[in-house]
Amino acid sequence: MVKEAVMDYISANKAAWEEAFDHRRPHWGDDVPARLQQEHLPFLDPAIVAEVEQLDLKNKTIAQFCCNNGRELLSLMQLGATRGVGFDIADNILAQARTNAAAANITNCEFVSTNILEIPAAYHEQFDLIIFTIGAITWFEDLKPLFAKVADCLKPGGILLLHDFHPLMNMLPLPGEADFKADDLSHIAYPYFKPDPFIENDGISYIAEPYKSKTLTSFAHPISAIINNIIVNGMQLTAFNEYDYDVGLTDVYDGKGYPLSFLLEANKLI
Ligand SMILES: C[S@@+](CC[C@H](N)C(=O)[O-])C[C@H]1O[C@@H](n2cnc3c(N)ncnc32)[C@H](O)[C@@H]1O
Repeated sequence: MVKEAVMDYISANKAAWEEAFDHRRPHWGDDVPARLQQEHLPFLDPAIVAEVEQLDLKNKTIAQFCCNNGRELLSLMQLGATRGVGFDIADNILAQARTNAAAANITNCEFVSTNILEIPAAYHEQFDLIIFTIGAITWFEDLKPLFAKVADCLKPGGILLLHDFHPLMNMLPLPGEADFKADDLSHIAYPYFKPDPFIENDGISYIAEPYKSKTLTSFAHPISAIINNIIVNGMQLTAFNEYDYDVGLTDVYDGKGYPLSFLLEANKLI
């Protein structure tokens, strides 16, 4: 049973994500079927590609939590999984995922509309691999129930892959922000530890041009919170890589000595 205050920000985020899709740039997402048919593992960051190419996904069941329009999960299906399930809370974005899957002739992938914290028990112990990609875990205030749901849904021995912005990025001022100094990229503007949420009303920039949007609430999570909440949920860390390049906010800090993104892999203990 999820607490009411938790549901409040999650319901508000659902409305804001659906609104962002309604404001999407013309043809946003329409290229997915063609790219799926013409390219090898499109839409996936090189760090994920390097990792998944070492996994044997043939005849496996895989899932993406917070799958958005499904482009990454549909891409991963190229590696031979027999079944894929994408979970997301935004109904209209999932509708595009289903349309794109059908247009690309991918029939073994389903898309389920749900708050991740409320994924039904029918999906427990079903998956050999669960992935989260960029900008997914930030929508959850408390990582403990989030990774509990991952552990519930993995088969024993199943793998969690998490690729995301490095939380150190939360300390760096971005171009356009008052504290950004193009001539001093060593300037740190914000704290690493940030218990209060980010509250934003500018929409989702990779889907739509800025507009006055419904409120989006997201959260900073230090690396220790990510790792500890994976461990307490009965998973064992098997890899943790950091990269000096950004995966979606700005490239001005790339190669300057900061960890800007990371990839983590863990196994559910047998
Ligand atoms: C930035 S996307 C992450 C996926 C992918 N990296 C991408 O860029 O499209 C975040 C997704 O999380 C979904 N989301 C936010 N809160 C959620 C929740 N409580 N349960 C399920 N999905 C949620 C949003 O609808 C959105 O599609």
